[in-house]
Amino acid sequence: LTPVWLDCDPGHDDAFAILIAAHHPSLNLLGITSIHGNASLENTTNNAGSILEAIGRPDVAVYPGSQKPFSRPALHAPDIHGESGLDGTDLLPKVYKPAIRDVNPILAMRDALLAQPKGTPWVVATGTLTNVALLFATFPEVAEHIQGLSIMGGAIGDGFTDAPMSRLPGEESRIGNVTPWAEFNVYCDPEAAESIFSNPIVAPKTTIAALDLTHQVFASKEVQNRILHGARDSSKEPTIIRQILHALLIFFAGTYENVFGLMAGPPLHDPLAVAVILSNLNPTFAKAHPGQVLHFDDKGGERFALSIVTDGKHSTDVSISGQLGRSIATPLDGPGVAIPRGVDLEAFWNLISDCVQLADDC
Ligand code: BDR
Ligand code: CA
Repeated sequence: LTPVWLDCDPGHDDAFAILIAAHHPSLNLLGITSIHGNASLENTTNNAGSILEAIGRPDVAVYPGSQKPFSRPALHAPDIHGESGLDGTDLLPKVYKPAIRDVNPILAMRDALLAQPKGTPWVVATGTLTNVALLFATFPEVAEHIQGLSIMGGAIGDGFTDAPMSRLPGEESRIGNVTPWAEFNVYCDPEAAESIFSNPIVAPKTTIAALDLTHQVFASKEVQNRILHGARDSSKEPTIIRQILHALLIFFAGTYENVFGLMAGPPLHDPLAVAVILSNLNPTFAKAHPGQVLHFDDKGGERFALSIVTDGKHSTDVSISGQLGRSIATPLDGPGVAIPRGVDLEAFWNLISDCVQLADDC
């Protein structure tokens, strides 16, 4: 099994990232750190515990991480995820194992990762990057030790891709989802993102699922129905876990419709970052499970140097002022960040569907 630590800010799409990390038979979820982002740290922590309970994995520990970015106030996204960060259903369990508050979350991550054989564990980040930046800045040995880091974050523009929702209706140049340039997770703590992407040990082990990719993965009505019923007769009452996941998707679809005018269904960003571990972008997994590999298109191994606009650094470049949180990818010949541009959509939805069934069987 591939060991995984998940850092997240649930969040509707984070809930599906937790689902795969907790239930995929090839993954061993070591623990979860919560992070400020879609909602306050308190809410994202509660939401992580609640989802784990709902999907039958209350044994997974949740450590509350950072409450705010390094040098900015915390930002939240109630317009997308509701005030709680996970609005849309009353069925989520309200009573669950309390989060672990007497252990430093960054130490917990370090210890869990270092306890695994060198070169095996992955870190997956589906929220703001403060915790993960602290991990590598504080404990450089973890960077040497891990197999990979998979992040949902960033928006790479300028003709990088033809992703259908990179621009909003009526807009010429939008590539981000929180500003015209920036993606939410990177925008919330751009200094943290920059510290990860400029780390020479970490960057070559990093894959990002950027908006250019995640805006290809819409939870359409058909997907929503599949989550609700699975292979069961649709005239029968769906199980509670299926009702919960379906309600979360309906809420998420509604906010994407209201905020972005998007009718195709909400982009299910975060599970893509977990799916990276189960793909051709993870050579260890691909070798061990040749028949089960989810295929991402990284244009034959193309790699990039990634830098983040954090105000001062690019301030002499007038064209870049006002583009805080923008991700700039420069192609490299040697090792660098992987930025997949496409994914086998059918295999991705099968993966989600299979993990829902596993949770259902729990
Ligand atoms: C990211 O921002 C959050 O709202 C989502 O959970 C996802 O991680 C998309 O930009
Ligand atoms: Ca998230």
